[in-house]
Amino acid sequence: EKGGYDYFMLKEIAEQPRAVADTLLGRIDANGRLTLDEIRLSDDELREIDKIIIVACGTAYHAGLVAKYAIEHWTRIPCEVELASEFRYRDPILDRDTLVIAISQSGETMDTLMAVRHAREQRSRVLAICNVNGSTIPRESDAVLYTHAGPEVGVAATKTFLTQLVACYLVGLYLAQVRGTMFGDEIRAIIAQLADMPDKVEKVLDTIEPVRELARSLADAKAVLFLGRHVGYPVALEGALKLKELAYMHAEAFAAGELKHGPIALIEQDLPVVVVVPPRRGRSVLHDKILSNIQEIRARGAKTIVITEEGDETVAPYADTLIYVPAAPTLLQPLVATVPLQVFACELALARGHDVDRPRNLAKSVTVE
Ligand code: F6R
Repeated sequence: EKGGYDYFMLKEIAEQPRAVADTLLGRIDANGRLTLDEIRLSDDELREIDKIIIVACGTAYHAGLVAKYAIEHWTRIPCEVELASEFRYRDPILDRDTLVIAISQSGETMDTLMAVRHAREQRSRVLAICNVNGSTIPRESDAVLYTHAGPEVGVAATKTFLTQLVACYLVGLYLAQVRGTMFGDEIRAIIAQLADMPDKVEKVLDTIEPVRELARSLADAKAVLFLGRHVGYPVALEGALKLKELAYMHAEAFAAGELKHGPIALIEQDLPVVVVVPPRRGRSVLHDKILSNIQEIRARGAKTIVITEEGDETVAPYADTLIYVPAAPTLLQPLVATVPLQVFACELALARGHDVDRPRNLAKSVTVE
């Protein structure tokens, strides 16, 4: 059942190109337009929305953070992201025109379910993004968009994260299509780029061996820091979460721009710091800023592990280890940039002798609040 792999997690990481492709399948028509009638919200309802709040926990929350950048950019609808466990306790402002998007792999996470119930009591519409058919959260929501990752057995979320990202991109583009906030051609171009992502994820996996070697070489590290900005920040958060869960190591992620406001004090000789570099095209200002961050931490002795797109030679002089991923538009980069971080955490945990499918103290779905 592990399909020749020693762990489900390794199998599930390898399944990601297919999981991404399956989540796109049947949702794009012959003319390159999105067909998401399955979500059962009418175009009129979608046009009335004036605010979006995404609620989720853990890895699903990180998918929500990426979604905020994409949804606001494409639809111009204000979008907040909140940890589901915090949501209902702060008396959030909700009404009929608020769309609450609940992201949950299992569909059974109690914190997220309670957030959904609270939103519906306030008459907001709730759209669930979920991987398990017929689970509680989609049953209690107004609408659902399923991710098609297939069953995920490893406790740590991997392929479901990538498919949650895809589902969020589809929701954002669909809203843009219905509300006319983007030209049809623009939407079609992004859909075509999305359709290329399974091959790009495959390519990351085909060239992953150096990441494994790197992870093994760091088995005795005390801590690892992760830096990113824009959508690379949630990728950094996800990389740190994987390392905590699987390798039981102290791992922390920062938005690179925050470094100078405190965390830079943590940098010391030989501390491994993973940096996710945004593509040069598009948000080139961010690219250059993160380049100076890398120089700053390296000058203070950090061991810099830099993830950047193929063809970006500018970072090479400041990287102790350089990990190239295929070029992708900025907003879609998390689909490729996350994969090396999953493999890194998994391999480091194995090198430390841990069972990556069943990390200590964790359950696959958390059904208590
Ligand atoms: C991380 C992980 C957890 C879950 C979180 C939400 O690897 O598995 O952080 O992402 O417990 O679970 P779901 O998505 O089932 O609501």
